[in-house]
Amino acid sequence: MKRKYGLITAGHKGLGWGWSQFLTSRGYEVIIAGRSITSVSEAAESIHLNGGLVHAMQLDVSSEKSIQEVASAIKEKFGKLDLLVNNAGVNPKDYKDREKSKAAFNLEYLDPEALIEVYRVNSLGPILMIKHLKQLLELGEEKRVLNISSWLGSVNNLAFGGHYGYVSSKNLLNVLNKSAALEIKDSGIICVNVNPGWVKTEMGGKKANFTPLESAEMVYNNVLMKVEIRDTGKFYNYDGSIHPW
Ligand SMILES: NC(=O)c1ccc[n+]([C@@H]2O[C@H](COP(=O)([O-])OP(=O)(O)OC[C@H]3O[C@@H](n4cnc5c(N)ncnc54)[C@H](OP(=O)(O)O)[C@@H]3O)[C@@H](O)[C@H]2O)c1
Repeated sequence: MKRKYGLITAGHKGLGWGWSQFLTSRGYEVIIAGRSITSVSEAAESIHLNGGLVHAMQLDVSSEKSIQEVASAIKEKFGKLDLLVNNAGVNPKDYKDREKSKAAFNLEYLDPEALIEVYRVNSLGPILMIKHLKQLLELGEEKRVLNISSWLGSVNNLAFGGHYGYVSSKNLLNVLNKSAALEIKDSGIICVNVNPGWVKTEMGGKKANFTPLESAEMVYNNVLMKVEIRDTGKFYNYDGSIHPW
């Protein structure tokens, strides 16, 4: 049987960890990529001990150079990629530096530089990942990109103010993905965005509805395995329904 390779950004923690566990249980050879090589290597070791096929790579999605290095390493080691899960993300509400948090959160303190910092991770990072991994995804059998967006990225659903950095970064991700998806449609690569639900992670908090593993399983079955090339660029909910923009 042909090997299937799945790359998960920040696959060592929170929702990404759920994806790493789920995909290895489904027979994927998983590449966990994250900022701290120690953290990603520990996560990979834990999956390895349970019999999964897994690799660890250092990746900072806010750096195009780092993204290029990961793309080169995957090309050299595996020669293709089947599935890319753009999961890494930040939410300024969680910043330990409260001044920096307010600069991306409240109108009174709003600072364009603080917004751009969020965009580099949540919006530009995923699109640069597609830019540099496109060739390898074309060589994969599954040809799928999943961007983890959020219901907070939906203008239609926005019911409260503030939160500038996070909501606009996920909205920007939605539109950037649609542009990229339509531009590269002829390659056969399906690029979709998903609201993963409210998930029990550091960002989501303990009261959230789903565990990371539950969210990954729902999104995989309801979205990733159902979409076809005609669906590229769409924004989905975890249950497989179309999410309002
Ligand atoms: N939890 C929810 O309810 C929920 C709902 C909707 C959407 N989401 C989205 O789901 C994704 C995962 O979030 P989570 O809930 O699992 O949050 P989390 O536990 O805070 O995990 C976020 C991960 O992103 C990584 N990261 C941040 N900046 C990065 C960078 N520059 N390069 C590489 N990795 C970076 C962090 O790395 P370190 O470990 O190095 O800090 C961390 O592992 C995010 O995109 C988030 O916006 C979550």
